[in-house]
Amino acid sequence: MKKLLIVFGTRPEAIKMCPLVKEFQKHPKDFDTKVCVTGQHREMLDQVLAIFDIKPDYDLNIMKSGQDLYDITCRVLLGMRDILIKEHPDVVFVHGDTSTSTAAALAAFYQQIPVAHIEAGLRTYNIYSPWPEEMNRQITGRIATYNFSPTPLSKNNLLQENVSEKNIWVTGNTVIDALYSVIERINSDDTLQSQISQNLLNAGYDISRLSNGKRMVLITGHRRENFGDGFINICNAIKELKNKYPDVDFVYPMHLNPNVRNAIHSVFGENLQNLGNMFFIEPLEYLEFVQMMNSCYLVLTDSGGIQEEAPGLGKPVLVMRNTTERPEALDAGTVKLVGTDYDLIMSDVSRLLEDGAYYNQMSQAVNPYGDGLACQRIVKTMKEL
Ligand code: UD1
Ligand code: UDP
Repeated sequence: MKKLLIVFGTRPEAIKMCPLVKEFQKHPKDFDTKVCVTGQHREMLDQVLAIFDIKPDYDLNIMKSGQDLYDITCRVLLGMRDILIKEHPDVVFVHGDTSTSTAAALAAFYQQIPVAHIEAGLRTYNIYSPWPEEMNRQITGRIATYNFSPTPLSKNNLLQENVSEKNIWVTGNTVIDALYSVIERINSDDTLQSQISQNLLNAGYDISRLSNGKRMVLITGHRRENFGDGFINICNAIKELKNKYPDVDFVYPMHLNPNVRNAIHSVFGENLQNLGNMFFIEPLEYLEFVQMMNSCYLVLTDSGGIQEEAPGLGKPVLVMRNTTERPEALDAGTVKLVGTDYDLIMSDVSRLLEDGAYYNQMSQAVNPYGDGLACQRIVKTMKEL
């Protein structure tokens, strides 16, 4: 029996790790699976835990409003110390590139406990873009013993860094496992569909507006390197677009980071209600967000996870970043980088809204990130080790 400790703390890690927790829990004879959440995110993490019905064994509850990178790293590192001493797991699982992942990996290393890295090998090789995520994943990659890469390309990055091939497994991304399981839940349950529409209405968006052919642009943004001028450019472009296209709805579920909200307020004013075809709403729960991705015309985002999900749903994604560690969908032509440049955001959104041929070209459903079986592959590998 292997003792596993699965650690995560933010919304996207939770979405990508909860299906893995569920999969390990199906094998109680082989694995003693414990979950530690850091609480780097509070509300946004709890939303996901509830959807997947996961009750953590440990909760470091570290989040402070407006926390900085020192706060997160120190609090996770110290919090993990006692848990690792008490549990002494055989393997610690971390995910991706957040400060939770890197601090938890470092904490495990200090106890000489092997680390398994999920979503290993993504790279931009620009340590300031995304910041601090590119360095976070490089450090975690250096610490990790077991590397679960989503795609052959991410495996190749690790090979080029001299990681031994016998310690890398290409599994697909667990986000596709999460996405497929949620879509199946939505499609098989009419009552749930009505509930989701009602929840969206309560959150501030009436999705039945789209039933008469109206189009909707779904927007998210939260990257630290975009704070300041980047976010102001983004907000100015969105403001201009919503005026230019009064028949199109623009819906922005706002990240809870105060830096994101300050930029929005500085461009749109204090009152974000009753802005016509512009809807600023609270962060959506995962089921509601998937429904919105499925219903939108295109996505404008700086998110990592959404770059992986939306192409599978056949939705073009304009990425408000200068680099991406996820070039697969870029190569497939369904994702395009527009940075935080006002003119580029304006011109690319306008082109997708006006040029049908261009839109069709970008809206081919492709899914280079997985087939929904990543968690099964990871569990099988761990059994064999
Ligand atoms: C973090 C990750 C980023 C990931 C993103 C996903 C780091 C350094 N950053 O960035 O890699 O892409 O999560 O969303 O690990 N807040 C709340 N409630 C919540 C969540 C956040 O109030 O449920 C507010 C708090 O004021 C918090 C702030 O947002 O201090 C920033 O959270 P933090 O985790 O530091 O940064 P993110 O921008 O969310
Ligand atoms: N998401 C969500 N509700 C929202 C916005 C996003 O559930 O209001 C989901 C989205 O589907 C994706 C993940 O959150 O799976 C992405 O999180 P985020 O953009 O915060 O982080 P990143 O992926 O950039 O690290």
